[in-house]
Amino acid sequence: MPTATPAAALLLLAAALPLLPLSSAATRCPDCGSNPVPYPLSTSPTCGDQSYKVQCDAGGTLLFDTLNNSYPITSVDPENQRLVVQPASLLANTCVTSDLVHQGVQLNSSLPFNVTSSNTILFLNCTSTLLNSPLNCSSASLCHTYVNGTAGAAACGAAAICCTFRAGGSTTSYSIRVRDAGCRAYTSFVNLDPSEPVNLWPKPGMEIQWVLPPEPVCGAQSDCDGNATCRADPAGGGVSRCFCQPGLTWDPTQGVCVESLTSGIGVALLGAIVALLLYRRHRRIQEARERLTREHFNRATDDVNLAVYVQRMVEEERIMDVVDPMLKEQASTANVETMKALGFLAVGCLEERRQNRPSMKEVAEEIEYIMSVATAEVVES
Ligand SMILES: *[C@@H]1O[C@H](CO)[C@@H](O)[C@H](O)[C@H]1NC(C)=O
Ligand SMILES: *[C@@H]1O[C@H](CO)[C@@H](O)[C@H](O)[C@H]1NC(C)=O
Ligand SMILES: *[C@@H]1O[C@H](CO)[C@@H](O)[C@H](O)[C@H]1NC(C)=O
Ligand SMILES: *[C@@H]1O[C@H](CO)[C@@H](O)[C@H](O)[C@H]1NC(C)=O
Ligand SMILES: *[C@@H]1O[C@H](CO)[C@@H](O)[C@H](O)[C@H]1NC(C)=O
Ligand SMILES: *[C@@H]1O[C@H](CO)[C@@H](O)[C@H](O)[C@H]1NC(C)=O
Ligand SMILES: *[C@@H]1O[C@H](CO)[C@@H](O)[C@H](O)[C@H]1NC(C)=O
Repeated sequence: MPTATPAAALLLLAAALPLLPLSSAATRCPDCGSNPVPYPLSTSPTCGDQSYKVQCDAGGTLLFDTLNNSYPITSVDPENQRLVVQPASLLANTCVTSDLVHQGVQLNSSLPFNVTSSNTILFLNCTSTLLNSPLNCSSASLCHTYVNGTAGAAACGAAAICCTFRAGGSTTSYSIRVRDAGCRAYTSFVNLDPSEPVNLWPKPGMEIQWVLPPEPVCGAQSDCDGNATCRADPAGGGVSRCFCQPGLTWDPTQGVCVESLTSGIGVALLGAIVALLLYRRHRRIQEARERLTREHFNRATDDVNLAVYVQRMVEEERIMDVVDPMLKEQASTANVETMKALGFLAVGCLEERRQNRPSMKEVAEEIEYIMSVATAEVVES
C-alpha cells in the first residue's frame, strides 16, 4: 500500500524542480569593482549586449553615458530593467548645474534607455518664459520647498523662478533639458513623497529604464553558444541573431536560452499533481480509519512535525525555505513564483480540518490559474 506522507509530497515537488529552466550567466559582464553588471548591460565588446553599453571606470564605478556626458550609476535593478544615476550637481555658489554646457541629460533616442515617470524633476533658475509652460512654476511649487530647505541650493534664491514636473512624458523621456534661455539648473528625485519634509527626502537620483533585449546579434554561428543558431532576424534590421534551439526559450533577463517554460513547468506540475493526489489519498485512508476505529490515528511523529514545520513556513511567507536553496537558485524568478504558488496550494491540502482543505476540483482550477499566470508572464517578456 502506498503511504505517501507530506515528506513524500515535498520530495516529489523538489524532484520536479531541477527540470525547470536552468540559467547560466555566460554572457554577463564581470563585476565593476564591487558592483555587479547584470545582463544586458555591457562594459566591454565581449560581454553583455552591445546596445546596452555602460562604462566601468578605474575606480570601479559604473557610468551611464548620455550623448555628450556621463553620470555615475548608483543602483541597478535588473529584474525591473531600471537603473538610477546621480544627476549633475550645482557649480559652487551658483544656481547652474555642471551639465548646462551639455544641455542637461540628453539620451540617444535610438538606444533602448529612457527616463522613467518615477522621477520628480525640479528645474531651477528659470527665465519667465517658463511661466507659460505646462510645468508647475507657482509659488507653492515643490522646487521652492526644496530651495528653502536645502543649504547647497541657497544660491538659487527663494524668490527666483523654479518649476516642478513629473518626468516620463513623451517630451521628457529622452531629454531633461537645461539651457540659458530656459532653466539653468535641475535636480531629480525618484519616487519622491512631496508630503515629507525636505530633510527626509532621498538623495537626488534619476531613474532610467531599458527595454528587454532581443536575442544577441551574431556574425557567425561561432558567436552563439550550443543552444542557439545564428540566423537572419525575421523582424528585419538586416542583422542575424542567436535564436534558441527548438524547446528552448530566450530569457532576456539572464541572456541565455532556457528550457521552455511550458515543458519545464509541465514536469513540475505533473510532480506537484502526483504529490497532491498521493497525499490526499493518504489523508482519505487516514480519515476512513479514524471513522472506523473512532480513535485518533497515530501518525509518525516526524510526519506531524514536517506538516507543522511547512505550515509555519507558509504562515511566515517562507515557503521557499523548505525547498533546497541550490534548486531555488536555478529556478528563474517566474518559476520561483510558480513554485511558491504551487507550494501554497500544496500546503492548503495539508490543512488539518477536512473542510479547510480544497476539493480536488478546486485544486485543479487553482493549478490551471497558476499556470495561466506563469504562461502569461513568459509571453509578456
Ligand atoms: C542663473 O543662470 C544664469 C545664466 O546661466 C547665471 O548667469 C546666474 O548666475 C544664475 N543664477 C545663480 C544664482 O547662479
Ligand atoms: C554634443 O557633442 C557634439 C559633438 O561632439 C556637438 O556637435 C554637439 O553640439 C554637442 N551637443 C551638446 C548639447 O552639447
Ligand atoms: C545613437 O545610437 C545609435 C545606435 O547605436 C548610433 O548609431 C548613433 O550614432 C547614436 N547617435 C549619436 C548622436 O551618438
Ligand atoms: C503646484 O504644486 C503645488 C505643490 O505640490 C500644488 O499645491 C499646486 O496645486 C500645484 N499647482 C498647479 C497649478 O498644478
Ligand atoms: C523655509 O524653511 C524654514 C525652516 O527651514 C521654514 O520655517 C519656513 O516655513 C520655510 N518657508 C517656506 C516658504 O517654505
Ligand atoms: C520607455 O521604455 C519603456 C520600456 O523600457 C517603453 O515601454 C516606453 O514606451 C518607452 N517610452 C518612450 C517614450 O519611448
Ligand atoms: C543549454 O541549455 C541547457 C538547458 O537550459 C543548459 O543546461 C546548458 O548549460 C546550456 N548550454 C550552454 C552552452 O549554455
